[in-house]
Amino acid sequence: MSLIPMNPTLIGTPSSTIHTRNRSQTDSIRERLKHITDDLLASLPAIDELSAEGRRGIIARYSSVLEGNFIYWMTGAYLAARWEETRSIIEDNLLQEVRECHPGMMRRFALAAHAVPGSADALAVHPQLSAVRLFVGKLSPAPLIAMMAFFEGFIQSFMAYLAQLAKRQGSGDQEYTDVHGICDIAHSRELSRALEAEMAIASDSGESGENLFEGVYLLRSLIQVIVGDPVHPAKAFPNVN
Ligand SMILES: [Fe+2]
Repeated sequence: MSLIPMNPTLIGTPSSTIHTRNRSQTDSIRERLKHITDDLLASLPAIDELSAEGRRGIIARYSSVLEGNFIYWMTGAYLAARWEETRSIIEDNLLQEVRECHPGMMRRFALAAHAVPGSADALAVHPQLSAVRLFVGKLSPAPLIAMMAFFEGFIQSFMAYLAQLAKRQGSGDQEYTDVHGICDIAHSRELSRALEAEMAIASDSGESGENLFEGVYLLRSLIQVIVGDPVHPAKAFPNVN
């Protein structure tokens, strides 16, 4: 992937200068992201209470979203980034996605769990996924990096849950969850550093930063649909097995 010319004011700016200016502000943002992530993880339906259809649905909706969209989201973050090191961090992530063919890994995971997404799964996530796609298309640097940092943090913990669902579905293919449970720890840390820098640049540019969590909240809504019951959102899945 070729590099788009950087903002000339940032070329040669030492990384330590950029990302130490807003430390207390970014610490509080990291805390807020962690709080949102912890709440989301705590709201996951208990695996023992899920029916086979409940398990299949979560894997299928997750797969329906991730297989075709993650690289689009991350590419948007790459195009939006204004700090050279942010692009370098995201480029490493994208290279891994493409070289290891993570969409193919996602598809094998769904296949092995008998949870290949169908049209009902795609329709269930359509409104919230569309909102996330439109947000990504705005290419807002700090809010988009915040969304990706939040997502990488979330899936670190979500992978163990997803692996358990697949196991209960009789799957022996855990490559997707094994790979993402490990590599996304580093991705999350690096994106958090990039967020700090992008926020400093936004602040220097006189941007308010009031929409910093726009993408985070849109993606949280999408995840809530993935892990919820699309027919009866307020009800837990009955255990019919
Ligand atoms: Fe991936």
